[in-house]
Amino acid sequence: MRKGMRLWPIGFLLVCLSLVLFGCGTGGSEEAGKKEEGSASEGAGDKKKFIVGTDATYAPMEYMDSSGNIIGIDIDVVKAVAEEVGAEVEFKNIGWEPLFPAVKNGEVDFAVSSITMTEERKKEFDFTDPYYIANQVILIPEDSDISKLEDLKDKKASVQINTTGHEVLKELMGNTSANIIAAETMPLAIEEMLNGNADAAVGDNSVVNEYLKNNPDKKLKVIEDESFEKEYYGLMVKKGNQELRDLLNEGIKKIKENGKLKEITGYDVE
Ligand code: ARG
Repeated sequence: MRKGMRLWPIGFLLVCLSLVLFGCGTGGSEEAGKKEEGSASEGAGDKKKFIVGTDATYAPMEYMDSSGNIIGIDIDVVKAVAEEVGAEVEFKNIGWEPLFPAVKNGEVDFAVSSITMTEERKKEFDFTDPYYIANQVILIPEDSDISKLEDLKDKKASVQINTTGHEVLKELMGNTSANIIAAETMPLAIEEMLNGNADAAVGDNSVVNEYLKNNPDKKLKVIEDESFEKEYYGLMVKKGNQELRDLLNEGIKKIKENGKLKEITGYDVE
C-alpha cells in the first residue's frame, strides 16, 4: 500500500508526459502538413499568405529602411500582385546565395530579388512572366580609362557572386580568374572598387545607377557595353509549382493591364 502510494505520482507524471508529447507530435505534423500542401495558399482564416524571400541589399529594388522594414520596387511589385489575387505577403531577408535553396526546400513560397530569368536557372526553378527589364553596367572611377567591357580583360573587377554580372565577367576573364572579385552583396562589391581592390564593379543598371545618384562625392561614372543583353526579372518559384506560378502570373497580368506595374517601375514590360 505504502509502496503503491509512493509510485502513484510517478505514474501520473508519466501519463502527463506522454500526453504532452503525443499532443506536440500531432500538432507538429499537422503544422508541417499544412505548410506542405497549402504552401502559398493557406494563411490565417481564408486569406492566402505568401512567404517571400529576398536579398534586401539591393536598393532601390529591395532593401531595408532605417527601421528594418524591407522596401523597394520589387517589394511594391509583389505587394501589388498579392493584392490582385487576394493574398497577404510576408517578406524574409534571406540573402542572395541562400535564396535559391530556400525556394527549393520550401522555406519560402517564392523569391523576388531582381532575379534575371536565365536558361541555367530555368532548369532548376520556374519563373513567372517578366515584370522588369534590366542590363549590366560598369561602375568605374570618373578618371578611369576603361570605356568598354573588353577593357576589363586584364583588370580587376568586382561583382556580386553568382549573379548575371558574375557570368559576364567569367565569360570575359575565365571561370576561375583571380581578377574577378566575387562579393557576397552588391554594396560589398562596390566597396571593393572604392577601396582600390578592383578597377571596376559590374552590376544591374537600376542598382548601380541608384548608387551613383546617391554618392556624387565618390566621383564615379557608369558605362554600358553593347554586348550587355537585356535581362528580364521574374518571380522565382519551386520547379513544378504550377499553381503558384499561375496565380502570380494572374496578378502580374492584372497590374500590367491596370497600369499599377508602370506606376511602380516607371515603364511598361511586355
Ligand atoms: N539580376 C541579377 C541576377 O539575377 C542580380 C540580382 C541580384 N539581386 C539581389 N537582390 N542581390 O543575377
